[in-house]
Amino acid sequence: MRDSMTQDVATILDRYGKDRSELMDILWDVQHSYGYLPAEAASVVAVRLGLTPQDVMETASFYHFFHSAPSGRYRIYLSNTVIGKMHGYQQVYEALECETGTQFGGPGSVDFGLFETACIGLSDQEPAMLIDDVAFTDLSSESVTDIVARLKQGQPPEGIANPSGLPRSEVAYVDAMAHTTVHTSGPVFFSGEGDHSALLNRCLALTPEEVITTITASGLRGLGGAGFPTGTKWQSCRAAGGDAKYVICNADEGEPGTFKDRVLLTRSPKQVFVGMIIAAHAVGSAHGIVYLRGEYAYLREYLEAQLAELRDDGWLGPAFDIRIQMGAGAYICGDESALIESCEGKRGTPRLKPPFPVEHGFLGKPTCVNNVETFAAAARIMELGAEWFAAMGTPESSGTRLLSVAGDCAAPGIHEVEWGITLREVLEMVGAEDPRAVQISGPAGEMVSANADADRRLAFEDISCGGSFMVFNAKRDLLSVVRDFMQFFVDESCGICVPCRAGNVVLRQKVDLVLAGRADQSDLDDMVQWGGVIAKTSRCGLGTTSPNPILTTLVKFPEIYSDRLTKQDGSLLSSFDVDAALDGYGKAMEQLAVQESR
Ligand SMILES: Cc1cc2nc3c(=O)[nH]c(=O)nc-3n(C[C@H](O)[C@H](O)[C@H](O)COP(=O)(O)O)c2cc1C
Ligand code: SF4
Repeated sequence: MRDSMTQDVATILDRYGKDRSELMDILWDVQHSYGYLPAEAASVVAVRLGLTPQDVMETASFYHFFHSAPSGRYRIYLSNTVIGKMHGYQQVYEALECETGTQFGGPGSVDFGLFETACIGLSDQEPAMLIDDVAFTDLSSESVTDIVARLKQGQPPEGIANPSGLPRSEVAYVDAMAHTTVHTSGPVFFSGEGDHSALLNRCLALTPEEVITTITASGLRGLGGAGFPTGTKWQSCRAAGGDAKYVICNADEGEPGTFKDRVLLTRSPKQVFVGMIIAAHAVGSAHGIVYLRGEYAYLREYLEAQLAELRDDGWLGPAFDIRIQMGAGAYICGDESALIESCEGKRGTPRLKPPFPVEHGFLGKPTCVNNVETFAAAARIMELGAEWFAAMGTPESSGTRLLSVAGDCAAPGIHEVEWGITLREVLEMVGAEDPRAVQISGPAGEMVSANADADRRLAFEDISCGGSFMVFNAKRDLLSVVRDFMQFFVDESCGICVPCRAGNVVLRQKVDLVLAGRADQSDLDDMVQWGGVIAKTSRCGLGTTSPNPILTTLVKFPEIYSDRLTKQDGSLLSSFDVDAALDGYGKAMEQLAVQESR
C-alpha cells in the first residue's frame, strides 16, 4: 500500500517541477486522488520539493479545504452566512445531519463529512453548499433529502447538479452550478465581449506610459475594497526594477455577501483577461496569475477554455501568459500579500508592509495585484477613453461599480450603479422590503441605517462600498448578525498577531454576553476600547476592520445593545465617544488604503 502510494504520488509530482510555488496545486491533486492528504503522501511531496513533511502539512493545515485525515467520500460544505440563516439555513443544516447520519464538526463517516464554511459567493441563492467542487443552491430540507438519497444510490454530485452532462468548459455548465441575475447592467460591465482583438491591437501599439496616463486620467480606483488609484499602482510597478514582474488578478472574493467577481468571470471573462494583458503591457510583465478561490473551482475549466482561445488568437503566449492558481478556502488570502504567500505555496499569512507588492511581491519580484472588476473596468476605459469614464461618478470616485445585492429585497443579484448614487436610490432599485439596515462591504465594512443614512452616497468619499450590499428588514435581529460577523473574523484570522487572534474572540464573547442579557454598560465600554486597540494594532486589514460590526452598530443602532443590558441607567454609552469611534473607522479605512501597493 505504502509503495503504491509513493508511486502514485510520484506520478502526480511528475506533472510539476520542484518549486514550492507549485505546492498548492500538488496538494489539490493529492487530495483529489485520496480524498485527503495522507501523511505518507506529504513525505513524498516534501522530498521532491526539498521541504520537510512538516513544511508541507504546515501549509496544508492553513486552508479549510485541505484535510489531513479521511473526511468522507463526499465532503459537504454548507455556507453559514447570515443571508443563508435568513432563508432556511437551520432546516437545511438539520436535514443534512439527519439524512447523512453525520454531524457537523464531528468525525464524519466513510461516505459523508459535513463542514460549515464561510460565504461561498452565492448569497443571492442561499442556502447553498458545495459538495467538493459542485455547487447546490436554493436548498431546502426537501432538496437535501433528495440529493443525499441520490448520493447514497451512487450518483456522483456532478451528475445530480448537471444531469444533462454539460461540458465543464462551457458557460452553460457554470450557469447550471450558479445562476445569478444581472438586474442592472450599465455602461462599463456586461456590455458584450466586444472586439477584444481590435482593442488589444490599439492598446499594445501605445507606449506603456500612454496606457498608464489614460488609466490615471480616468480616475479608476481599485474595486477590491481599499480604492487605491489604479494608474498610480501600475506606474509604481512599472518604475520598480527587476528582471521579472507579475500581474495578479485577485479572484479570491471572500468578503461575505460578495459575488460580483464570480459573475464577471462567468459573463465577461475576456474583458477581465484583456484588462490583465493591458496591465502587463503597462507594467512590463510576462507572467499573469488569476488567484481563483477554491469555492469557485467549478469555474476553472471554463476559464481555462477562455484562456486557450486567447492563446489560439495569439494574445497570450511567450510574451505574456496567464495561469490559474487555485486557493483552498481562506478569506485572508484575499489580502494581496497573503495571496502572494499562498501563490508561493505557503500559509496565507499577510506580510508586513513596506515593502509593497509592487516592489517586492511574488517570489520577491515587482507584482501588480488588482481585483477582477478593476481589470474589467480598465479594459473598458482603454476602449472608450478616460474622459468618458471620468464623466461618470463623483469627483473622488469615477465611473460605476457592481453591487452584489442580497437579503430582504425583491431583486437579489447584480446591479451596476454609478458612484454617487444614494442609499435610498439603491434600496428602491433593488426593491428593498421594509429595510432597517444595510451592511455595506461585508463584515469588514459598516452597517448603515436605511432611514438615517438614506441620502448618503455610495462613493469613496462617503459610504465606501466594496461591492457587498446586504439588506436587513425591521424583523431581523441585528445583534445576531453582528455576532455572526464577529465569529467570521474569529474563524478567519490567520492568528499571527495577538490583537486580532485573541481580541476578536473576546469581542465575540462580549456580544454573546449582550445577547444573553448578562452585559452591562461597562461591557459596551470594553468593546469600544478593545475594538479600538484591535483596529490600531493589527498587522493587516482583517484585524483593522474586524471590530467594525460592533463599532458601527453601536453608533447606528445603539438600541440593539441597550435593550438587552442588565441595568439601564438612562445614560447609554456614557463613556462611549461616538466621534472617536467614527474617526477610528475612518482611520482604519485610510490605513487599508495606505497598505496598498504604491
Ligand atoms: C482580509 C482582506 C481580504 C481581502 N479580500 C479581497 C478580495 O477577495 N478581492 C480583492 O480584490 N481584494 C481583496 N482585498 C484587498 C486586496 O488586498 C487588494 O487591495 C486588492 O486586491 C487590490 O486590487 P484593487 O486595487 O484592484 O482593488 C482584501 C484585503 C483584506 C485585508
Ligand atoms: S490582523 Fe489578523 S489576519 Fe491580519 S495578520 Fe494579524 S492575525 Fe493575521
